Amino acid sequence: MNDTRTAPYEVAIAGRGPARLADSRMGPPPGPSGPAPVAAMTRISKKEREQAMPQAGREEQLRRYWDKHARSYDKQMGFFDRHLFAGGRDWICSRATGHVLEVAIGTGLNLAHYPVGVQLTGVEWSPAMLDIARHRAGQLGRAVDLRQGDAQALDFPDATFDTVVCTFSLCAIPDDRKAVAEMARVLRPGGLLLLADHVAASPWPARAAQALIELISVPAQGEHFRRRPIRHVQAAGFTIEDHDRFKLGIVEQLAARKP
Ligand SMILES: C[S@@+](CC[C@H](N)C(=O)[O-])C[C@H]1O[C@@H](n2cnc3c(N)ncnc32)[C@H](O)[C@@H]1O
Repeated sequence: MNDTRTAPYEVAIAGRGPARLADSRMGPPPGPSGPAPVAAMTRISKKEREQAMPQAGREEQLRRYWDKHARSYDKQMGFFDRHLFAGGRDWICSRATGHVLEVAIGTGLNLAHYPVGVQLTGVEWSPAMLDIARHRAGQLGRAVDLRQGDAQALDFPDATFDTVVCTFSLCAIPDDRKAVAEMARVLRPGGLLLLADHVAASPWPARAAQALIELISVPAQGEHFRRRPIRHVQAAGFTIEDHDRFKLGIVEQLAARKP
């Protein structure tokens, strides 16, 4: 943990009140020179630290995670593309038409799968992932408007796009409900929403295993295994036109029409 990250924790936890800071399990109370020493902070459980961390600090931490892992991403994802998501990118991208927004585009692994003729815009919050996407677009000779941005607050007017795509990212976006609401907002009425992701498994033992994995993956990298974005899509009043769920229900892809 570096200095810039300890500061927000200290402020947030101090804000929970002096009684808490005086708790003997947490070491000495704050000295006259300021907040509790970092050594005392380490006695606070990881869960408590997560809860206390201001949202912006947590999101910055996650963005840095993706920056750090950008160079190894394609290799890692290649394994899952071959063995788990097989054919998923074609299933999604072949349905895209017109002005297409890809949300959380990552390194641009979908770029090669879009039909020629669609006009592509991509949003991604990690500059390092975005750099690789730019390089890939150049190599493929594809004109893509690539922008840094947050899936939870898209910087586009309502009803801008004919198609919105998001693959294997709603598991990683902090607030998946907000992200789906934003995708719905920027999609024109009658437009198509295309999603693919790993989701909660169908059999309960597999879901239990996913819950165990999340104990590590959520705090470490913001990766969720038991989400079901389809529920947000249905709640938004979309019509599910095409739907596929396989590999014990762990992989789900859908095409949904905005009313
Ligand atoms: C598992 S990768 C998937 C990348 C790509 N969509 C694909 O299919 O390979 C998840 C991506 O979501 C991005 N991401 C997570 N939260 C985001 C947010 N709030 N706004 C934009 N991008 C986000 C990460 O930076 C990362 O590039």
